[in-house]
Amino acid sequence: MKDILSVWRIRAEVICFVNRLSREVLNLKSWMTHKSKIEIVKLMDMRCNCFLIRKDGITVLVDTSIRAEGSILLRRLKELNVVKLHCILLTHVHFDHTGNVRRLQKKYNCPVFVHSSEEDFLKEGFTYLPKGSMVLTKFATTLAGNRVLRFQRFPACHDKIVTELSYNLPVEPNDVLTPADADPALEQVEPALEQADTALAPADAALEQADSALASPDDALTRVDQILTRVGIQILYTPGHTVGSVSYIVDDEAALVGDTMINPFRMELRPPFADLPDRLPASWKVLLDTHCRYFLPAHGGVVGRELLEEHNAKARLWRVQ
Ligand SMILES: [Fe+2]
Repeated sequence: MKDILSVWRIRAEVICFVNRLSREVLNLKSWMTHKSKIEIVKLMDMRCNCFLIRKDGITVLVDTSIRAEGSILLRRLKELNVVKLHCILLTHVHFDHTGNVRRLQKKYNCPVFVHSSEEDFLKEGFTYLPKGSMVLTKFATTLAGNRVLRFQRFPACHDKIVTELSYNLPVEPNDVLTPADADPALEQVEPALEQADTALAPADAALEQADSALASPDDALTRVDQILTRVGIQILYTPGHTVGSVSYIVDDEAALVGDTMINPFRMELRPPFADLPDRLPASWKVLLDTHCRYFLPAHGGVVGRELLEEHNAKARLWRVQ
């Protein structure tokens, strides 16, 4: 009996050690907000930081990374004992944020929130390269034009997309490209991509039946609103990187900002690509007008309030570059 107990004790210690080690090695950083004790976990930091937000049994995922990282993402969710995902929140529709929406949605049968101005791209399964916000990237994106390269494609989503909330998010008039403006060359690569999509089919088919559980878009809307309220998340409209970029404010303490800012080296928070670069400073100001103490971008490390204030003060110099 004593031997059995000691074996169990050793086993438990090994599991604890492995869990701790995997969190360190895999960079699963986490935060807990002070007021409402909402947990935020960074699931991965390869192509896109994806964040899990949890409170009182409600679990929400912000962004889904590229399609090639889908298995890693699912493994992380399993490691964190996520058996139910209540909704997926997208900061914007770019392939490195939306690559696994369809796969996750089918697995967890959950609604996905996206700003209304980017809904069509989510349904089409592609986006354009945004315009460059700096000299080099401007040059590169001018060459790309409105061609859609293969890597910019992702599995399209059609169901349970929620774009409206009980409070209205603004929709700015804009002259950026829509899905209909795609270069005809897109059509030629389409069949090949459709074939690749069928690789997901066997897994998807088994989950297809579960889709009918959510009766109508109205149900999804009600659910997303309720979920956001219960977890303590507010959505702010922060255009700049794209027309429909939004940020998720958690407990008025942390902001998950997508590509509204990046922080790979602390040298430059401005994303190198932005459809509306002149709107970025105003969006940063909107974020600074909250009480958030830290900002979590999709690329790079945490941005403290002081760092954002410092860079926002310098932002007025962008226009003269
Ligand atoms: Fe982006």
